[in-house]
Parts: sequence; structure tokens; C-alpha cells
Amino acid sequence: MSKYYNVLVLGSGGREHAIGWKLNQSRFLGQLFFGPGNAGTASIGKNIPVDINDFDSIKKILIKNKIDILVIGPENPLVNGISDKCSSDPDTSNVVVIGPQKSGAMLEGSKSFAKSFMQKHKIPTAKYKDFNAENSENAKKYLETLSAPFVIKADGLAAGKGVYICQNIDEAKKAIDKITVGLKFGEAGKKIVIEEFLEGKEISVFILTNGTEYKLFPIAQDYKRIGENDTGPNTGGMGAVSPVSFVDSELIKKIEEQIIKPTIHGLRRDEIKYTGFIFFGLMIVKSKPYLIEYNARLGDPETQSIMPLIDSDLLELFINIKNSSKFDRLKLVIKTLKSLTVILSSGGYPEKYKSGYEIKGLDQLGDITVFHAGVQEKNNSLFTSGGRVLAITSLAKSFEDSFEKAYKGLKKISFKDMYYRNDIGRNSR
Ligand code: AMP
Ligand code: GLY
Repeated sequence: MSKYYNVLVLGSGGREHAIGWKLNQSRFLGQLFFGPGNAGTASIGKNIPVDINDFDSIKKILIKNKIDILVIGPENPLVNGISDKCSSDPDTSNVVVIGPQKSGAMLEGSKSFAKSFMQKHKIPTAKYKDFNAENSENAKKYLETLSAPFVIKADGLAAGKGVYICQNIDEAKKAIDKITVGLKFGEAGKKIVIEEFLEGKEISVFILTNGTEYKLFPIAQDYKRIGENDTGPNTGGMGAVSPVSFVDSELIKKIEEQIIKPTIHGLRRDEIKYTGFIFFGLMIVKSKPYLIEYNARLGDPETQSIMPLIDSDLLELFINIKNSSKFDRLKLVIKTLKSLTVILSSGGYPEKYKSGYEIKGLDQLGDITVFHAGVQEKNNSLFTSGGRVLAITSLAKSFEDSFEKAYKGLKKISFKDMYYRNDIGRNSR
């Protein structure tokens, strides 16, 4: 491999902009490409239009641009087997892919697979049962043996929409029908998982692993609901903070011993090769961690909070990920600062919203970092083009200060119908 490494980041959201922003600081970086990227990534690398699920087109980009490292942002290409295709093709087999093969991505791609993996490897999680769509009547009968609230999930990928938390049994039965009748979520609804409701505090834990060693990234918390004080419908995430105030070293030790290490051990025992990130969605119930779900990628908007906290060279970790002893020796150094991310969204999101409004004020921001998501450039001006438009991240010694900084900074930005939550990180003291 060359001394400088060419990198392609696949995806087009704020998460991918934040990953690229961090990689762009590396002393090992050759050229940085994004497929397809967004208006923000165009300012730090080269955007190449591509369908992230079309391996033949991606392969051409990899070869033409002599890509050494391919970083996969979103889950769909992983579950569709992009890593397998890349490593089994002689023309691309030397590319290091940051993202697991399909067998590992199934930890996110099938909730029923993930739950049986957790059970097999004795990883604390909510009790559950799974049912095929044809047996939805049995699923409904099973509900009678439980008490509210009921948690009903479509097995497969459903773009964050396949989980129903129901307060009574009628709602729960309707949720089962929504998933199974007419297969609204396609293949994803061929199975359902019903599980025990866990009451606690949710956190997002990320590791980068080669299947043997791992690096623990800063712990984060995202704000999923659209409204302040966690009200209203779920979104892709309206903000994030990192680190999380109530997560102390004792809890981190429990998370490593009870969740992370048994997962790595389980992957090895089940002969699932895994190179990439694992995102553990955890519920902390009375100081005990329970695993709600795995994701085979980084989180959005948690990544926009986490990347600015990393002092180490992220690309150096990627370059050496397959070399166990070298990877093991590399340290992940984290800044002792508090990071806070506020999402600016299009009014109406997560339901209907309008796009195409000009974004102003991005040239005078000072001490905050802006990551782009639903933004489009036209004739040197920027316009809204999605539900979540921008992510504003600030760093400071205390959450009080990062809160001040983020909200002072974002008030300089404007676009029609701009919406954001005023309480991101307000209680992170
Ligand atoms: P998921 O798509 O699996 O991340 O689920 C979406 C959200 O539903 C999670 O982030 C939790 O807030 C909630 N959730 C999922 N499973 C449970 C559970 N067993 N108990 C309580 N809340 C849950
Ligand atoms: N922020 C949660 C996710 O990326 O799935």
C-alpha cells in the first residue's frame, strides 16, 4: 500500500460528513472521495454520484481512484453484502472495507437473529419471542400472557420505522397487523419480534473492531423525539451529546464485561468475521446495562458529536485494522471535552415538509462545526433538500458552555421553516 491512502466514504448524511471531516485531518490521507456525498462533503473531498447499493458502479470508482479504504456509512449496503462483494472480487480484494460482511451485518439486518445471538452468548437483553408473519394469530395470543407496554418489532431493516411501543393490547394487535398484513415493510415484516419493555435510560455505545481487538469510542446519547422534553413522534435523531454524564467508569466496566466482550467472543465462536463499527443500543436499568439492539455502523447524529472528540488519527486505525498487533497497540485518545450536536430540520419533519429553501449565514459561524445532511448546492448557493438539514456541533469544557456556544452559533443560520429543539444537552450536567 502507498504511504498516503485514498479513501471512499459511502453515504450522504451528516454522519458521513463527520467521518470525512475527521479523516481529512489525517497525516496519512491521500485523496478523499464521497459517494454520493453532499454539499458539505464537497468542500473537503470529491463527491462522486453513485447508488450506494450498486456494487458494479462502486467497483469502478474503487479501481479508477485507487481506493485503499472503503468506509460504509449506512446499513443498507452492508446488509446487502457490499463487503462480501468487495473482498471476493479479485479487482477489489485489497481494499480495506470498514463495515462487516453480510453475516455480521445481520446483527442489524435481522432482529430475530440478533436476539438469538444475544441469548446464545448470554448478553443481557429484554426477554422475547419471535413469530413468522403467517403465525401472527399465535403472536396475538402470546400478547395475552404479557402486560403492557408491549414492544412489537419488524424483523428486518425498516428505516427506523419498524418498532411499535404499545400501551394496550388492541394497539399491539394492530401493530402486528401493520407489520404482517400486506408486508408494509416488505421482507422485513416476514417475521416479528415481541419483547419485554425495558424502562431506563438509553445510551449509544460504539466500538471499532477487527473481530478480536476493539477500541471503545466516546459514549453518546441521542434525542430521538421531534419535540422538546422528548415528546412527539420519533425522528432519525434531533441532537446528541457525548460523553454521557451518568455513565461512570463502573458502568463502562459493566458494559465492556457484560455486553462488548461477550459480543466479540460470540462473533468468534460463531465464526462471523467482523471488521468495522458496532453500535450497541443500550438501556440502562437501575445501573445495569441491557442490549436493545445492534447496528453494524455508526449512529447519526451521534457521530457528529463523537468525531470532534477524537484526538487520535482515525485513518491510522482504519489502515491498521487488519494487523492485530499494530491495531492493538494504537491508542484511541479522547479529548476531555463535552460535545453537543443540534439538528436543524425542515419544519414538518418527520412528517411532510417542504424543501428548496436557501440556507443563509453559514459563512460567519466562528467556533462551531457544521455538518451537512439534507443540503443541495445550486449556483454557489445552498438549499434545503431533506428533513434533517444541518448538524451543529460545539465543544467546550462543560456542557453549559457547549450548550451556550451551539445555540448562540446556530442562531446565525437561517432558512425558511427551520426547526430545532431548544433542549439538546440542557440536562447533561
Ligand atoms: P430500535 O429500532 O430497535 O432502535 O427501537 C427504537 C426505539 O424503541 C429504541 O431506541 C428504544 O427507545 C425503543 N425500544 C426498543 N426496544 C425496547 C424495549 N425492549 N424496551 C423499551 N424500549 C424499547
Ligand atoms: N441515532 C440512531 C441511529 O443512527 O440509528
